[in-house]
Amino acid sequence: MPSFGDYQNEIYFRGLQGVKPRLPVDFRGWEEKARAAMPASVLSYVAGGCGDEHTQDINVTAFQKWGLVPRMMVDGSKRDLSVDLFGLKLPSPLFLSPIGVLGICAQDGHGDLATAKAAAIAGVPMIASTLSNDPLEAVAKVLGGGTGFFQLYTPNDRELAESFVRRAEAAGFKALVVTLDTSILGWRPRDLNDANFPQLHGHALENYFSDPRFRALLGKAPEEDRRAAAQLVLRLFGKPLTWADLPWLRSLTKLPLILKGICHPDDARRAIDGGVDGIFCSNHGGRQANGGAAAIDMLPAVVAASGKTPVLFDSGIRSGTDIVKALALGAKAVGVGRPYAYGLALDGVDGIVHVLRCLLAEADLLMAVDGYPTLRDLTPDALMRV
Ligand code: FNR
Repeated sequence: MPSFGDYQNEIYFRGLQGVKPRLPVDFRGWEEKARAAMPASVLSYVAGGCGDEHTQDINVTAFQKWGLVPRMMVDGSKRDLSVDLFGLKLPSPLFLSPIGVLGICAQDGHGDLATAKAAAIAGVPMIASTLSNDPLEAVAKVLGGGTGFFQLYTPNDRELAESFVRRAEAAGFKALVVTLDTSILGWRPRDLNDANFPQLHGHALENYFSDPRFRALLGKAPEEDRRAAAQLVLRLFGKPLTWADLPWLRSLTKLPLILKGICHPDDARRAIDGGVDGIFCSNHGGRQANGGAAAIDMLPAVVAASGKTPVLFDSGIRSGTDIVKALALGAKAVGVGRPYAYGLALDGVDGIVHVLRCLLAEADLLMAVDGYPTLRDLTPDALMRV
């Protein structure tokens, strides 16, 4: 059976014919190339975070405080990274976190579709954002047999929220991910210094513009007056959710319901008591609040509080090594954010597939070398504080 680590042999064998990889194989390389290739406004929106970006930075550096302890005399020749998530049999625990500007990361403006295609090719689930340059139905169509979850930014208008969920169900998305930390936008100096907010220019709003409830609220076709349509989106955008809304959220769908942005064990317990199927521990990659706590350091307590309920994790994943550490700390599945946005900007579908294959190859090879050939072997005992 082929393994994810075989990607390194492909690269070395192509090297025998004098062919080098079109893109680097590590985050530093992707970021550096993206800096040179992306339009400044898109780059600053993707790369930037909140305040002085301390949280965003320690999301990444906190991984260095955890070390994987090598175990010897273990047969690591065959690895198994497959996972069962909400009854879905997935080849690996990696997924694509929702990113609301994928459209404009691609040169043709259809980065959401490119991501769906890459997700299907790589066998890595895509969480499609509410903020999309192509309607969710088009994204689902390109995903085809691939796995997609729909991420909801809950609008103020309940009928609009319900319409989004109905459409996502009808399109074949397999779970609903509700993001809790973005009813209001965090303070992002890079974007503020440039007065740069892509959605105000009408980017990434096609799920709204194509929605019958939104069109009724607007009272005219969004194509006739995109400025008024974008302003209406902003007015409707962020319902401040409280625990009192959880029964309503739960009643919206029979699909697995996952709450994104849970970082405190009490919040995890309360969500599970309210009937959610999955907890998503994330601090939005440090883009929403510069609170100073690294997401990976909050993961163990959230996992402990969640019992049998699966915990998804993202924020700060830059390598296969980070994925392995997050799994050892109890994540059932691990999301990648900015790295794949850079892959998309650099080489479209192929760029994302390459980024995913690199991350999976590194994780797979680390598990082989260090003697943890299956996900079951990855427990907190595999790690030490360094
Ligand atoms: C995001 N993120 C995000 N989250 C979400 O729930 N809906 C969204 O539309 C977006 N949009 C978005 C845009 C951009 C440009 C970025 C970088 C991120 C957050 C995302 O899902 C994830 O939580 C973070 O990206 C994880 O952090 P890293 O891995 O990028 O550091």
